[in-house]
Amino acid sequence: MITITNLTFKLDTDNTSYIMRVLPTGQLEQLHYGRYISGNGVSDALGEKHPVGYANTVAYSQQDVTFCLDQLPTELSGVGKGDFREPAIELTGDDGCFVTDFGYHSHRVTQGHPAIKGLPSAYGDCETLEITLLDPISGCTLLLSYHLFAHCDIITRQTLLTAGDKPVTVRRVMSMQLDLHGSNYRMVTFNGAWAREMQPEEQPLRCGRFVIDAKSGVSSNLHNPFFMIKGSDCTETAGDCWAFNLIYSGNHCQIAEVSPHGRTRLLSGINPHCFAHRLEAGEQFAAPEAVLGYSHNGAGGISRSMHDFVRGHIVRGEWKKMPRPVLVNSWEANYFDIDEDKLVAQAHKAHALGAELYVVDDGWFGKRNNDTTSLGDWFENPSKLPGGLARLAERFASIPMALGLWVEPEMVSVESELYKAHPDWALAVPASHHSMGRNQLVLDLSRDEVCDYMIQRMTAVIGSADISYIKWDMNRNLSDVYSVCAGHNGDLFHRYTLGYYRIMQAVTERFPKVLFEGCAGGGNRFDLGVLCYMPQIWLSDNTDVHCRAAIQRGASYGYPQSVVAAHLSDCPNHQTGRTASLSSRFAVAAMGLLGYELDVTTLGTDDADVVHRQIEFYKQHRLLLQYGTQHRLDIDDDNFTAWITVSGDKSEAIVLLYQQLFVPNTPPPLLRLRGLDPKRSYRINELSSRGEIATASGDLLCYAGLRLGQIVPVDGLSPNALVLPDFGAVLLHLTS
Ligand code: DGJ
Repeated sequence: MITITNLTFKLDTDNTSYIMRVLPTGQLEQLHYGRYISGNGVSDALGEKHPVGYANTVAYSQQDVTFCLDQLPTELSGVGKGDFREPAIELTGDDGCFVTDFGYHSHRVTQGHPAIKGLPSAYGDCETLEITLLDPISGCTLLLSYHLFAHCDIITRQTLLTAGDKPVTVRRVMSMQLDLHGSNYRMVTFNGAWAREMQPEEQPLRCGRFVIDAKSGVSSNLHNPFFMIKGSDCTETAGDCWAFNLIYSGNHCQIAEVSPHGRTRLLSGINPHCFAHRLEAGEQFAAPEAVLGYSHNGAGGISRSMHDFVRGHIVRGEWKKMPRPVLVNSWEANYFDIDEDKLVAQAHKAHALGAELYVVDDGWFGKRNNDTTSLGDWFENPSKLPGGLARLAERFASIPMALGLWVEPEMVSVESELYKAHPDWALAVPASHHSMGRNQLVLDLSRDEVCDYMIQRMTAVIGSADISYIKWDMNRNLSDVYSVCAGHNGDLFHRYTLGYYRIMQAVTERFPKVLFEGCAGGGNRFDLGVLCYMPQIWLSDNTDVHCRAAIQRGASYGYPQSVVAAHLSDCPNHQTGRTASLSSRFAVAAMGLLGYELDVTTLGTDDADVVHRQIEFYKQHRLLLQYGTQHRLDIDDDNFTAWITVSGDKSEAIVLLYQQLFVPNTPPPLLRLRGLDPKRSYRINELSSRGEIATASGDLLCYAGLRLGQIVPVDGLSPNALVLPDFGAVLLHLTS
């Protein structure tokens, strides 16, 4: 609900309040963002008190020499009027002037969320507050929109800049600024690299700036745009926790600045690095939408708000709430060595095991026998698929098996027909050698003709056969970021991202029934922008149980399991060389969107039986596994990781318990569960030889905890022990 009293704006979601007001000088003062507060937010208790003007502060105006922007929590900071912290906006006029002074002009309340031209955005029922600010210096207008997704306790914020009657160069427009009172916060960011995505790192904020960003052209596996801020009392289940994300897939930047005056400023938006966007008189620039959430129920509370928001207001289309298919993917089974008969044989076996979709990964097109060639030549390789995709799909249909296909349209190999025909379509700096990534170049998506070609080719490929699923990959970071098009280079990274969105919009619109899965060498572009077009993403190429448990747990802070593709692969694992049991590999993969990434025709009878039962179990419980409410569990022993997914009515739940290394003669972990109905009685079935192990009430399981009993590394040592070897995982199924 939005309440406006004498230019004090109070934005309430079910459990949070966001309060700001217009000052007599025109600035928007940020008063509170946190736990829900009753009333209209007008009180002398809030608001900055500034009775003394100290020696070298800059007073905003002569009218009040004690009023200084450097200590004011604001909604939007500019440059040159005495706020010496990181600005949210930085513009220069043609005269080189950097100074801006945005002040309140008008506001209005509307319903709903209009689309943002060229950019993905949240959608669905919401109340919206629009505030217009004017800058008399540059002549620019800023429209700040606040969208309230009340039931998820999420507010999104959007910024639209319009040039006045003279041109400006936009050096930065951050999507979100939040000035928190105090300086005793910890920031949690999600960092990594290829095969090591989403590793949470928590650190106290100190006086000065802490920055994470992406400069590689994609949201990146180095630093995800999602981050959290914890108050001093924050735990997994209680205390102040804020979380932020950005609906954007390109270069982003998140800044936390603690000022010597004891304020904490948070900024998130497009990375100002290599960014200078020219706006002619009257032209507009839309910054990507920022997502803000607060919970007084700690990290777990804010994660569940983010999950609800992503499921309800980011993911869209036919697959939004649909059970996702169990798939078999050809990549690690065959790499480039595929042909029609082999694929059909694997698809037959996949069907016998219960899988519903077979994905033909890399290698089906051009002359693609390794990764040095053919990207751009999106035509079937006749020596591998003599009847083309159409005949393959027909043979699949008779099994029956749905056909999925891998593509990587944003790239081009030098050795390709496309590159021969259009060498200037790749990003390249004249008179400089190319810096290569996976032997491939990046196409210049700032050019309309390149995007048009891609839309047309992908439409032809997907329309050429009965294709149910597309894995849209992107395997390298951007380098040599230069376009031959005049005027494109000041903000080429951003233009690339806009081109990508245009393509995704067109292709996904043409094939509304196809399930699209995003991928970028695993999770190098795992973000809310992608999820507006594709309802799921391949989180990591790393399918090793040990690494995956950590990567999936990391992702769970900001993203629900319904967007996380997770596969069971062969042993020794192709990324780490480690071996883990089939049941352990299943347990971890089952906590996401299950797939198999191995040659199913080589499974022995026993393993095939196990896999068959795994898929049967997963299909029976997939609504819970894909769409249940997740709670991370705390165990006082770093050797273990656990989390639980609970059904909406709390009648059913599944727990994952993972053990890194077996240590003899140590006490078993105490599993305090979460999210259960305290009054219900649950039967606990261990998906192992032990079967049913206990019956207990929800309150007992949550407050006293489940004592699992002795852990042993191999079967047969004790009938009452839980068998959990090194890198072992087990699922517990609770029913009431
Ligand atoms: C990288 C992806 O992450 C893999 O799953 C696979 O699709 C390869 N690309 C294919 O080249």
